[in-house]
Amino acid sequence: MKFKFLLRQFISWVHRNRKFTPSDCHFEESSGTIRINLGSGRIVAPGWINVDNGFTILMATFPLWFLKILLYVFQNRKNISKQIEFIIQLNRKKCYFIHYDLNYGLPFPDGVADFIYSSHFFEHFTQKGGVAFLKECKRVLKPGGMIRICVPDLEKFVQLYLKGERIRFLSVFFSELRNVDECYGRHRSMYDYNLLQDVLIKVGFKKITHCEYKKGTTPDLDILDAQNEMTLYVEAMKQ
Ligand SMILES: C[S@@+](CC[C@H](N)C(=O)[O-])C[C@H]1O[C@@H](n2cnc3c(N)ncnc32)[C@H](O)[C@@H]1O
Repeated sequence: MKFKFLLRQFISWVHRNRKFTPSDCHFEESSGTIRINLGSGRIVAPGWINVDNGFTILMATFPLWFLKILLYVFQNRKNISKQIEFIIQLNRKKCYFIHYDLNYGLPFPDGVADFIYSSHFFEHFTQKGGVAFLKECKRVLKPGGMIRICVPDLEKFVQLYLKGERIRFLSVFFSELRNVDECYGRHRSMYDYNLLQDVLIKVGFKKITHCEYKKGTTPDLDILDAQNEMTLYVEAMKQ
């Protein structure tokens, strides 16, 4: 699996200088607002630009005809063909996919986005990396644009500990890594509402709001807010 990890790093490095404008992403077809989902994984909604450096999103950028050939080639390999079928479904969802490592910043020009959404991704940065990432989000948002950040809620996990659910509490800090590729799944920071509010204020966001599951100003929350129970939902505006 070290090979898979190195391959992912290598492709990310090759793609590091990519830049996209909304017209590259064919957004004249969508709602007229520019919506970007960062670290989207497989949770995608129609009309959004989805950025992730996983293999699923890399394959979702392949043309449909090529995916169909792959499906034909691997028709007898149940696991692989199931994965390709899923990617074909993603490919048909009227979304736009960008394979990009967000450690390199955001691959968009200044002031183009109306909405930025990010779920269970921000905690993959160190605190310093998180500030740099939020500065990039602010740069890419239009004045009046909104960001919604969803992360595991430190306060809820501490409550778990206090209730005696110690193993579940510890699992968020010390999860088993099945292979080296899952280094991408490693958390490097954690936030409660006050900590996240502080970092958003530091970067210059305004109107910071502690939201609830599937509630807020961001569109498509019925699809995008897929992680409920232990999650902190926060929205903020660029003025
Ligand atoms: C825990 S998943 C969250 C997926 C989805 N947003 C959700 O809420 O279920 C984290 C996602 O971040 C992506 N990711 C991790 N590090 C990344 C990076 N440096 N650049 C881009 N995507 C990254 C992973 O590939 C993965 O899809």
